[in-house]
Amino acid sequence: MNDSYYFNVKRKRPEEIYNDVSDYFKGEILNQYAHSKSMMKIQEKITIRALELLDIRKKGAFILDAGSGPGFAAMFLKELGYRTVALDIIAEFLNFYNIKDLNPITADMCFPPFKGKTFDAILSISALQWIYRDIANKKMHYLLNHLSKSFYHILKPDSRVIIQFYPKNKEIMEQIGKIIADNTEFQGNFIIDNPNTSKKRKIFLLLEKKS
Ligand SMILES: C[S@@+](CC[C@H](N)C(=O)[O-])C[C@H]1O[C@@H](n2cnc3c(N)ncnc32)[C@H](O)[C@@H]1O
Repeated sequence: MNDSYYFNVKRKRPEEIYNDVSDYFKGEILNQYAHSKSMMKIQEKITIRALELLDIRKKGAFILDAGSGPGFAAMFLKELGYRTVALDIIAEFLNFYNIKDLNPITADMCFPPFKGKTFDAILSISALQWIYRDIANKKMHYLLNHLSKSFYHILKPDSRVIIQFYPKNKEIMEQIGKIIADNTEFQGNFIIDNPNTSKKRKIFLLLEKKS
């Protein structure tokens, strides 16, 4: 990625229209998302790439899927032999599939209810844009700050977090990196697949907790 790399999504997305994620994901929209086979396939593909970046060496590692929705990533991780917790703020999302083996929990990923050093990895697919999307918004700043400190706390040493998300523009993406760098000891960087093709662009934030 070179320094002139730039993007700004012009189309208004649900996270810019709805203040609260549960005002968007409800009723028919929630149903359609949870039953969508194409969405399941897309999220699995992103999870494969996320796993590549996580580079987990441990067999049966314990992974938090933060903002799991119906559990597409967590179900796939389980098939691969990982142990998971599927966490989402919308309780109804956790009722579509038989996911009791994924230890489903309704919670806000900014305040994850776990003890320190619980997870071998944390993965979050297509959720962070709901938490941080406006540089001027102090509450969003606070929530992202709390999320990053909490992720650092619940992660074991020598472990990684991977967050795939859809920032509206490069400024928001960089501000997210800055807030995390200023407030935690995570070391990390952005990885952008297909940076110049808006439809295929995938942005990952990889964070590492050193021992
Ligand atoms: C686009 S969906 C992605 C769901 C899932 N990760 C997937 O790959 O299919 C975004 C999800 O993020 C969840 N979410 C948004 N804000 C959240 C928060 N503060 N805590 C937990 N989940 C949140 C939403 O409820 C929703 O399920």
